[in-house]
Amino acid sequence: IRVAATPIGPARPLVIAHRGASATAPENTFAAFDHAVQNGADYIELDVQLSRDGVPFVLHDSALDRTTNGQGIASHRTISELRGFDAGSWHSDKFKGERIPMLDEVLRRYGGRVGLLLELKDPQLQPGLERAVADALIRHNLTGEERLESSASSPAWRKAPVIVQSFGLPALRRFNDLLPSVPLCVIISRVEELEETRLHEMADFATYANIRMKLAEPRYVRRIHSSGMAVMVWTIDRRRDAVKAVAAGADAIVTDDPYHFREWIKKSP
Ligand code: G3P
Ligand code: CA
Repeated sequence: IRVAATPIGPARPLVIAHRGASATAPENTFAAFDHAVQNGADYIELDVQLSRDGVPFVLHDSALDRTTNGQGIASHRTISELRGFDAGSWHSDKFKGERIPMLDEVLRRYGGRVGLLLELKDPQLQPGLERAVADALIRHNLTGEERLESSASSPAWRKAPVIVQSFGLPALRRFNDLLPSVPLCVIISRVEELEETRLHEMADFATYANIRMKLAEPRYVRRIHSSGMAVMVWTIDRRRDAVKAVAAGADAIVTDDPYHFREWIKKSP
């Protein structure tokens, strides 16, 4: 089942803050998410994993080492252990005390205030991740049904308050079985995945394809559009890429720096 409606309106391209506004604050923390909201992002992208005791939390790497003061594989820890780590000091002293967010905290704080693009991270290594994320969306009434009541004049993201994405097609299919009203997005990094038959298979359940910047060419965007999916492009952190992705026809872009993206687009010829 595919959610047919796309949230793309006249404000195209939608701006999605990658791991929050990660150019100006430590990625995947409340500080980065707050910066994204302050900088007018339409969506916040964040990476979701599952703790040893089955609680979804937000971190990009499988290991704690790069972005926290912990060590080792994050999903091998319990949620109370994960709560104890500092996820801000590695970036700068100013962000000391930032914590690894729990998905529930993120949904409570931002759900319905800004769009959320949730990535199921390494789902093949974390059985139960899809179910845990679906349960959290149900708890917070962010299952996509509410978009039907949105007025036409509301911000575009309100039509899809949450989108779930992954590199893993089996995980997206499982998620679709659990919660078919939530729009899905396939992340694509290789040109072979843009083969027409494969795109049509994806379009059976996915509303969006999120393509790597190097694939942001008009012919690929057209091909994805013909399959029925809308196009996101990741990750855009230079004026040159911003201009290229928009010219290629991107419906939404993923950037570490939502503030500068808008500036780049405004000033482009
Ligand atoms: O939105 C796509 C992007 O988030 C995928 O790459 O490694 O930043 O999670 P990564
Ligand atoms: Ca991601």
